[in-house]
Amino acid sequence: MKILVTGGAGFIGSHTVVELLDNGYDVAVIDNLSNSSKKSIDRVEQITGKKITFYEADMLDQAAVGDILDREQVDACIHFAGLKAVGESVQKPWEYYENNLQGTLVLVDAMRKHGVKNFIFSSSATVYSDPAFVPITEECPKKPCTNPYGWTKSMLEQILTDIQKADPEWNVILLRYFNPIGAHKSGLIGENPNGIPNNLMPYITQVAVGKLPELGVFGDDYDTPDGTGVRDYIHVVDLAAGHVSALKKIRENCGLKIYNLGTGHGVSVLELVKTFEEVTGQKIPYSIKPRRAGDIATCYASADLAKKELGWEAKYGIREMCEDSWRWQSMNPNGFEE
Ligand code: NAD
Ligand code: UFG
Repeated sequence: MKILVTGGAGFIGSHTVVELLDNGYDVAVIDNLSNSSKKSIDRVEQITGKKITFYEADMLDQAAVGDILDREQVDACIHFAGLKAVGESVQKPWEYYENNLQGTLVLVDAMRKHGVKNFIFSSSATVYSDPAFVPITEECPKKPCTNPYGWTKSMLEQILTDIQKADPEWNVILLRYFNPIGAHKSGLIGENPNGIPNNLMPYITQVAVGKLPELGVFGDDYDTPDGTGVRDYIHVVDLAAGHVSALKKIRENCGLKIYNLGTGHGVSVLELVKTFEEVTGQKIPYSIKPRRAGDIATCYASADLAKKELGWEAKYGIREMCEDSWRWQSMNPNGFEE
C-alpha cells in the first residue's frame, strides 16, 4: 500500500513516515520545506534503511500536486502540511486560511480526480477550545475558536465531513492531536522550531541546552492542582503509531471517523519541568509570568474511543518524552543545521 504524506518533512510527519516504513508501507512525501528541512527525510532514510520518494512542492500548486498523483499510485493520503503557529495566525490570518484551507482543497480535488478516497487529517484539540468538560471525549461540543489557526482546523473538519457525506466511498479520519512532544529514540529527528519556540517542551530543551536563559511559566493562578496549565502531552512516536492504526481502520471502509489522540492524563507545566530536571539532570531556571492570552487552564483527552475502535493507546509516559526530547536537542543543538 502506498501512502502520500503531505508535510512529511515536519515534526509529526517525519516520525509518522518512520512508522509507516517500519510497518511495510511505501511512502511518497510532499513538502515545501517552509517549516522543515530536507535533512529530516535523509535522517528518516538513515533510521529505516529505506528510500522515500520526496517531492519538494507546495500544496497550493495544483499542477504539481496533480502531477504527483499521476506518477504515484497512492491508496491513501495523510495530510500534515499546514501552518501551525497560533500567535502568528492572529497576525497573518489570510496566510493561514490560504495555506491550510486552499492546500487541503487542492489535495482533495486532485485525489478525487485520481479516484483516491482515503484521507487522514491532522486536526487538533484546539477545536474543543475551552472544553465543556474533561476528560474530553469526541462528543464534547466544538466551540468557537480563539484564533485563525484553530478555525482552519475546525473548518477543514467540516469541509472533509461534507465531502465524505456527499460521496460515501470516501473514508475520512479526523485525528485530534493533543500536545505532541518527545522525539525518535535515535535522536536523529525531532521538533525543530524556527526562532524562539512558542511551545513548552522546545522552550525547556532550549533553556537546557543554553540557548535561552530561563523559562517563563505563563500563569500560576489557574484552577489546577499547582496553579499552572494542565495539558495532555503525548509522545510523538505514539502519535505516529496512531496513524498506522488509523490506516488499518480505513481498510475496513470506515466512512467518517473522529478520534482523539492523547494519553488521557493531564500534566501541569511545573510537573513537566520537574520531571525534565529529574530525568535529564539539567536545571531549568524559570520565573512566573502573566497568563498568555488565549490559554486555558486544563485540556486532556479521553483516549477510550481510539483504544476501543483503533486498538491504539499511548505507550510512553512523560519521563520518556522528556528523555527523548532532550536526546534530540542535545545531539542537535541547532536542529538540522550543522
Ligand atoms: P511542522 O510545521 O513540523 O510540519 C508541517 C509541515 O508542512 C512542514 O514540514 C512544512 O514545511 C509543511 N508545509 C506547510 N505548508 C505547506 C504547503 N503549503 N505545501 C507543502 N508543505 C507545507 O508541524 P507538525 O507539528 O509536524 O504538525 C503537523 C500537522 O499537525 C499540522 O497540520 C499541525 O497543524 C497539526 N497539529 C500539530 C500539533 C502540534 O502541537 N505540533 C497539534 C495539533 C495538530
Ligand atoms: N507554557 C509556558 N511557557 C512557555 C510555553 C508554554 O508556561 O514558554 C505553558 C502554556 O501556558 C500551557 C502549556 O505550557 O499551559 C502548554 O503550552 P504549549 O504552547 O506547549 O501548548 P498549547 O496547549 O498552548 O497548544 C498546543 C499547540 C496548539 C494546539 C493545542 C491543542 O501549540 O497548536 O496544543 O492541541 F492547538
